[in-house]
Amino acid sequence: MTAVVREPADFRRACDEARGRGQRVGLVPTMGALHAGHLSLIDEAKARADFIAVTIFVNPLQFGEGEDLDRYPRTMEADLEGCRGRDVDVVFAPDPKAMYPDGFQTQVSLGEITKPLEGEFRPGHFDGVTTVVTKLFNLTGPSVAVFGRKDYQQWRILSRLALDLDMPIEVVGCAIIREADGLALSSRNRYLSASERKRALGIVTGLRAAYDAWTGGQRNPDTLRALAAAPVEALFDRADYVAAADPETLGAPEDPESRLLLAVAAHLGKTRLIDNVVLGEDPRP
Ligand code: PAJ
Repeated sequence: MTAVVREPADFRRACDEARGRGQRVGLVPTMGALHAGHLSLIDEAKARADFIAVTIFVNPLQFGEGEDLDRYPRTMEADLEGCRGRDVDVVFAPDPKAMYPDGFQTQVSLGEITKPLEGEFRPGHFDGVTTVVTKLFNLTGPSVAVFGRKDYQQWRILSRLALDLDMPIEVVGCAIIREADGLALSSRNRYLSASERKRALGIVTGLRAAYDAWTGGQRNPDTLRALAAAPVEALFDRADYVAAADPETLGAPEDPESRLLLAVAAHLGKTRLIDNVVLGEDPRP
């Protein structure tokens, strides 16, 4: 049975009771519009914990001016079906007012790791993410929290948060789930028109070109970056970045001979897509 709760106190009680029964609690935070990528996180949580909590909350704090907060897809009934199908124990779907009541004024903010890539183009975004996830961690008390590497920087930041603040939570990052043609699954893909959907493949085409060059022995970060960038620049309306970065710090590559993060953010019309690959670690995208 999947319980659905809207009040933070009820959610906390459900998780407390599970821990009281000696269960390991696994947390999967989402903003809803669930797809196979989200469901893979639930499966991973189930493999690592006994009591599974999924949160569905479109967090206003992490959306900037002019971003898609108002049109972000909300598909609660289908999301609950997905959670029931996976035997999730509790779904927490609060109202913004319950998470941020009048007088709310605390922000959790990390340092250097939040500055490049997404941080440069979405100012304040990660403060919103780390603040809401800290609240979710505190309400849930999970042994394990599961995130996707689709949002690679977000996963790294949340791992750092748990480490820095001595939270006894294992923060797991799961592989990116893709469509058959390689497009990374995203709640935002549903914004794409038919022609934009085709052009969206520019990202994975570029990541594959870089991956193949890496496999062939290429280790120059600038060359690899340029290979990833070419189809994005040809097919997208605008790229925020196509970057070669260190997979740990997200800054300049420190050991590009062994591992290199290639990360992309680019726009098709009103839709912004992100994707990445860690060369030397991930399979071919
Ligand atoms: P959301 O975009 O809904 O994503 C929820 C989780 O699903 C994130 O950890 C994300 O990385 C993962 N995910 C999305 N697409 C994926 C894919 N194709 N393959 C694997 N994992 C995928 O990320 C957020 O929500 C929010 O920032 C949140 C962490 C919930 C805080 O509000």
